[in-house]
Amino acid sequence: MKALILSGGKGTRLRPLTYTGAKQLVPVANKPILWYGIEAIVAAGITDIGIIISPETGEEIKLKTGDGKLFGAHITYILQDQPLGLAHAVKIAQPFLGDSPFIMYLGDNLIEDDLKPFFAAFKEQNLDALILLRKVSNPSAFGVAKVDEQGRVLQLVEKPKVPPSNLALVGVYFFSTAIHHAIASIQPSARGELEITDAIQALINFQKPVEALQLRGWWLDTGKKDDLLEANRIILDTSLEIDLQGEIDSNSQIIGRVEIAAGSKIINSTIRGPVIIGKDCHLENCFIGPYTSIADGVKLIETDLEHSVILQYAQVSGVHQRIVDSVVGQRAKLEATVRRPKALRFLIGDDSQVELG
Ligand code: G1P
Repeated sequence: MKALILSGGKGTRLRPLTYTGAKQLVPVANKPILWYGIEAIVAAGITDIGIIISPETGEEIKLKTGDGKLFGAHITYILQDQPLGLAHAVKIAQPFLGDSPFIMYLGDNLIEDDLKPFFAAFKEQNLDALILLRKVSNPSAFGVAKVDEQGRVLQLVEKPKVPPSNLALVGVYFFSTAIHHAIASIQPSARGELEITDAIQALINFQKPVEALQLRGWWLDTGKKDDLLEANRIILDTSLEIDLQGEIDSNSQIIGRVEIAAGSKIINSTIRGPVIIGKDCHLENCFIGPYTSIADGVKLIETDLEHSVILQYAQVSGVHQRIVDSVVGQRAKLEATVRRPKALRFLIGDDSQVELG
């Protein structure tokens, strides 16, 4: 069994954050989204992993993620020259996949469920495809499945205007080699892409065994700001452990589950967890409320912040209103010179500068 993680694409939905970086490297609780997928795959016992990358963001992904040693795996990078669809990515990965069955994992998806039971079901039932489904309130934004009472998939449609059910296709799939034949039989969709949804529909049309299982836990497609904040909230809620390093002065108060990495200075501040703070940060006269992730090298002065994600080397100072539900990009600078009364909500891109005066 091999794994194929799709980590290409341009990340248009997370712009401006992803003008300068890969959407799969945006951190959730200070760890790139992509790494959660790699860890879940390795935990299921699969260590031969191919990662599809794009010319725009591939180098950054390679540099950050490396050859797999970090995860106890072996990673092969596969360049997809153009974003021609998920099924196209499988097509170009054929030399890597060979005659092995594989799990395909979309690098911006995060799921709570352990992959092992799904992997076991896929093997035991000798399936050609196992898809995972989750009920959603906006099925038109996804691939949608119509299934019978036994979980047999009757029909799959990509982003339907009139959805046949509220069951969305999660970005985690198990395939036998039969998928390659199915991909060879399909044509690009209206959006000009070879859709994996159409390839699975082709397997169904060929009367191949295709089953669906529903996720029990949460699923987040982190392609948008609110999903990113929600993923951050859930991960901080479920996996953060207390670990206080760095320098915390005697005027500061640390309450609840808080992780502070080495080299960070906390001066006259209150931090109410769950909160994670990376390396070499400087926090002075701040209140940091629950569900906040602060990446390495961030500087916060006189800042009141909660339920937000602050990326590397960003700086915020003198904003006396509470900043909530915000994502601040790498190296962004937010400086306030006067006090203003209302709450502020931001999605500020990398290298942005905002002055309130
Ligand atoms: C892709 C798939 C879609 C699936 C979704 C899950 O959509 O085409 O069927 O439901 O991932 O994240 P995309 O993110 O390419 O719009």
